[in-house]
Amino acid sequence: MKGIILAGGKGTRLYPMTTVVPKSILPIYDKPMIYYPLSILLLASIQDILIISSPEHLPLFQNMLGDGSKIGVRFSYKVQDNPRGIADAFVVGADFIGDDSVCLILGDNIFFGSSMTTILQKAINENNGATVFGYPVKDAHSFGVVEFDKDRNVISLEEKPKNPKSNYAVPGLYFYDNHVVDIAKSIKPSERGELEITAINNAYLQMGKLRVIPFERGVAWLDTGTPEGMLKAAEFVETVQDRQGFYLSCIEEIAWRRGFISTEQLQTLGEELKMTDYGQYLLALAKGGSK
Ligand code: G1P
Repeated sequence: MKGIILAGGKGTRLYPMTTVVPKSILPIYDKPMIYYPLSILLLASIQDILIISSPEHLPLFQNMLGDGSKIGVRFSYKVQDNPRGIADAFVVGADFIGDDSVCLILGDNIFFGSSMTTILQKAINENNGATVFGYPVKDAHSFGVVEFDKDRNVISLEEKPKNPKSNYAVPGLYFYDNHVVDIAKSIKPSERGELEITAINNAYLQMGKLRVIPFERGVAWLDTGTPEGMLKAAEFVETVQDRQGFYLSCIEEIAWRRGFISTEQLQTLGEELKMTDYGQYLLALAKGGSK
């Protein structure tokens, strides 16, 4: 399975923070925002990852993340010349996807939860078409919304409805089989002029091949759409890290635990950052040795 991180969009709701720097490079506490969605792909054991962003911003991601070899993965990069919508990621990424299945995660979506690895494995192993998630929120009208019947079958999916039929938003984490490329090429732009991810999900729903997994209690899907949301997300990360001593979404740690890099490589990465708590954390993991 291939992975795509879409870090496009102008981030207008965060101006002036994002007038020059893309949203996904802004920090959430001690690491760039994109580390969080990236860590989800790594937890899913996905090592072939395409990063899509605008022509101005893509070089920044390339400078920051390189070719991925440091953490035992392969990063590719592709420009989205116009923000044509989330589903456009499968058109831009068609060659990268090839004949494979694909997981798409949005560059500003942050997930935590001890059950995350199990949920991801389940999504990959049991995918028969499309697998997406449902997450109860207070402001469902800001998202894609999924409506279930009493047996948890999906009845409808709507993008940012004025009157949501449920409080279940569809977060920016999607698993698809290879048909997604043809579906993305066939859908038409919505009224706001975008190729909507909800249109893709609706196509799978119509084929009877959409699965929506409701996230259980204890999984956090954090909002980073406003300065307040970013601050709250940062406070959440700081609280958990400080209290438990485990770092959240530390890509080097996950790469090491997944066996993508050796303890020696982890040690080297720690040395490069040893002037920070982050680097000291990596060194302590390498010294401890066991996974
Ligand atoms: C996008 C999608 C929406 C999804 C959301 C998750 O919204 O269109 O379906 O629920 O991401 O973050 P946007 O980021 O364009 O507001």
